[in-house]
Amino acid sequence: MHDLDPIELSRQLKKPTGKLGNQVGKKLNESNRELYKQAWEMVDFSSVQQILEIGFGNGKHLSQYFELNPDITVTGIDFSGEMCKEARDFHPELVEEAKLHIHCADSSSMPVIDHSHDFVIGLNILYFWDPPGLHLKEIARVLKPQGKLLLGYRPRQAVEHLAFTKQNFILYEPEELEDLLSNCGFSIISHQQNRYAKQAADGTEVEVTDICLMAEPA
Ligand SMILES: C[S@@+](CC[C@H](N)C(=O)[O-])C[C@H]1O[C@@H](n2cnc3c(N)ncnc32)[C@H](O)[C@@H]1O
Repeated sequence: MHDLDPIELSRQLKKPTGKLGNQVGKKLNESNRELYKQAWEMVDFSSVQQILEIGFGNGKHLSQYFELNPDITVTGIDFSGEMCKEARDFHPELVEEAKLHIHCADSSSMPVIDHSHDFVIGLNILYFWDPPGLHLKEIARVLKPQGKLLLGYRPRQAVEHLAFTKQNFILYEPEELEDLLSNCGFSIISHQQNRYAKQAADGTEVEVTDICLMAEPA
C-alpha cells in the first residue's frame, strides 16, 4: 500500500473507492487488527445491546461482534459505497436476519434515531472529521444517556512523518483529543496506549503506537 502515490493513498484511506479501494480495505484488515483487539478489550460486551461502528472499512470484522455478544445488534455507517457493498457481501445472513444494518452515509448526518445506541465505535476515522464537532454532536445525539464512545487512532507524533498523512488527515496528540471531546460535551473515561513493533512490507521492523479513548456524554 505504501508504494502508492501518497496523495492517492491518503484519498483512499479517507474514502476507499473503486478496485483500489477494495485492495486498501483488505490491507486495512491486517494493519489495524491490533487496534481492533485493543478497542474490543475495553468494552464490556455483556452490557451492550446496540453498537454502532462508524467507518468500518470493508467490514470483514463486523461478524466478530456476535462472537463477543450473540444477542447484539450492529449498525455500520460508512460513506464509501464500495465499503458498504463489501460489508453486506461478507455477511449476507446477518443482514438478512436484521442483526447487522449497513448504511452508506456520512457520520455528520446518520440515519439513526436519537438515543438508540449503547456504544459508538470509530477506529481510524477521527482524522477525516472536518470540522470534528459536527460528527461528535451527531454521535452524542444517537447515544443512549449512559452510552459510550470509543475512538481508536494513531497520535500525530507517531504518524506525521508518513507522507500520506500530509493531506486529508487532521492529526491529534492525546491531550488535544481530550480537549476537543471536553469542548464537545464528552467526559473522558479512559485513554489507553499500546506500543508494539511489527514488520513493514519491506521486511524492516517499525514501531506502532495505537491509542483508544473511551468517553461518554457529560
Ligand atoms: C482509514 S479507514 C479505517 C477503516 C477501519 N476502521 C480500520 O481501522 O481499519 C476510514 C474509513 O472511514 C470511512 N469514512 C471516513 N470519513 C467518513 C465519514 N465522514 N462518514 C462515514 N464514513 C467515513 C471511510 O470510507 C473508510 O472506510
